Order: sequence, then structure tokens, then C-alpha cells
Amino acid sequence: MAECAPAGSLESLRYRRGSLRVLNQLLLPQRSCYEEIGGVRQGWEAIRAMKVRGAPAIAIVGCLSLAVELHCGAGTGQGKADLEASIQDSLRYLVTARPTAVNMARAAQELGAFASQEAQRGEATAESLRESVIQRAEAMLEKDLRDNRSIGEHGARHLLRTAPQDRVTVLTHCNTGALATAGYGTALGVIRSLHALGRLEHVYCTETRPYNQGARLTAYELVYEHIPATLIADSMVSVAMKEKGLSAVIVGADRVVANGDTANKVGTYQLAIAAKHHGIPFYVAAPSTSCDLSLAEGSDIVIEERPSQELTDVNGVRIAAPGIGVWNPAFDVTPHELITGGIVTEFGVFRPGELREALAGK
Ligand code: MRU
Repeated sequence: MAECAPAGSLESLRYRRGSLRVLNQLLLPQRSCYEEIGGVRQGWEAIRAMKVRGAPAIAIVGCLSLAVELHCGAGTGQGKADLEASIQDSLRYLVTARPTAVNMARAAQELGAFASQEAQRGEATAESLRESVIQRAEAMLEKDLRDNRSIGEHGARHLLRTAPQDRVTVLTHCNTGALATAGYGTALGVIRSLHALGRLEHVYCTETRPYNQGARLTAYELVYEHIPATLIADSMVSVAMKEKGLSAVIVGADRVVANGDTANKVGTYQLAIAAKHHGIPFYVAAPSTSCDLSLAEGSDIVIEERPSQELTDVNGVRIAAPGIGVWNPAFDVTPHELITGGIVTEFGVFRPGELREALAGK
């Protein structure tokens, strides 16, 4: 059941015990429609169809879809070993929805390890296992929000310390705001913090072709928050860097690997190249849940390729010449040497080469 109204909400999801509704972002900015996610299969489908997207939001919706399924009685009557096995199956399945963002895989690993530890406790029952897994999934919501606020503060302070101007102008790509997270956002969280400090002059946001997360979602968030902002096409970034007095570029991440190479929305790589040419600091803002120290470098990251229609069609209307071949990678990898401003996490701002050590044991 969907609950729809004219657009007017910045919550990517609404959760209370036993009920999860996600904002169908395919309908923004025209309409706010919250759709019920009754369990893991619906969670997977919403993620795959990009009704909900953004690395942290994908993981939270995945895990909460499992929490809802468990609350609504999935596996009732099973013993704790069978219940644990079906929890592990669900987590493995959720990871397959989208491959590049590491957050769901990391959350599955963490929740899976927790479930198996719980199941091994002598006094645990199927019911106590169910309850503790639900609680653990619920805790992710609060943590993401907290982490984003820290990212916002660290990023804003660092940027202001290093920028020559009193009020800064920044450029961002894709959507990294409340809609992509549990709230506040990562790169957009830094922008929110700058605005709250009264130190933000202006934001340029890219359209973010082919899926238009910038034009549809970031622009929507910026207007909603009354943040002074201008939309540009992706092909305008170099000229904007030349003419608009940018203090920094700040983007999010789907996966940051051990050497600091970063997968993010396609187009990020060319932004970083252009920023280097113009001497503009380039920042990546991401929670540690988006970092994957198990991979040595960016070439190890699996890049998701999306259906060709996302490139050839706009709102269901074909704009590309029939018969043309299409390549549609959803992400690209920015090499660490182009991340000149730093990687902003909830623990602070690090140079790419410092990340591995900074996150070790966290
Ligand atoms: O394909 P999407 O819309 O899920 O891609 C989103 C991005 O690339 C974001 O920059 C990234 O997930 C960080 S969101 C805080």
C-alpha cells in the first residue's frame, strides 16, 4: 500500500517496530509516496529498482526489511539453528541487490556474525535470537544519523580551515543527503553544516546523468533547506571550476578501499581530474561503513552496470536513436591521488594514505 502526497518530505524511510515504509525516490520531485516494505524480498526489489538508493540507505533498508520480516513472524516454529540459517540466507540475498556500495555487504557481515554468536549462546532461544537481531538492525538507523552529523562537522571545519575565503562555494555530485542516508547526509551533510555556520556562499550541484539524482534529489533537498544553490549539467563542471570561484568539490562514496581509491557515482572521476587541473581541493565524505579495507585498490571494486533504458529514456520516453549500443556503468573509481582535500569520516578527515591506519580496529 502506498501513501502519496505532493512532494514535501526529506525522510528516505519511516520505520517503527514491524513497519517499514520507504520514500519511492523514482517519483521525486513531483510526489512523495511512501511504500510499505513487508519483508526481505520487497526490500531487495526496492533497492534494485532504486526506489531507495545511496550507499547507507541501501544497507539500512536491507537490514530493516529483515527486521520487519522477523517481527511479522518469519520462521515462527523453527528452532534457533534453522532461524539463524534463514537469517543468513536473507542477508546473503540482500547483498545481491546492488554490488558496488559496500554498506549492505558490511552490514550483512556484521549482523550475520552477531546472529551466529547469539545462536551459539546456550541460553538463547529462537525468540531471543529474533528479538536481538531486530534490535541490532534498528540500532543502525541511529548510528548512521550520528555518524553523518560528525562527518558534517569534521568536513565543514576542515574545509573552512583550509579555504582562503570566509564564505565558501562548493560543488557536489549525485545525491548524498537525507534521501541517501538515515538523515542529514554525508557530502550534503558537510554542506548543511557549512550553511548552519553561516559560512556557505553557494552550492553548485550537477544534474548527475543518466539517473539525474542531482537534478531530482539534491536540488530538491537544497531547495527544501533554503540553501543557495544552482543546478548545472555534468558537462559544465570544468567551466564552473574556471569561472565560479569554487573553494572545494565534495562528493560521497559507495566504497573507499584500503589505499583510498573511491568508487562513487559515475562522473566523479572526471570531476576529480578537472578539480586537480584547477587546483581545487577534492573531498570524499563517507562513513566508515562505506570503507572496505579488505580490497587493496580501486580496480578490485565490482562496478554495477545498469539497464540501457536508464540512459536512452527519460521518464519512459526514448530520447536516444533506436539501434545505438549503450554502456551504462553506474559508478566510476577516483584514484586516491586525486582526492586532494581528504576523506571525511565520522572519526575525522584523513589523507587517503592515512585511512587504513585511522580505521584499523574501529
Ligand atoms: O546509484 P545511487 O544513486 O545509489 O548512487 C549514489 C551515490 O553514488 C552516492 O554518492 C553514494 O552512495 C553516497 S550516498 C551518501
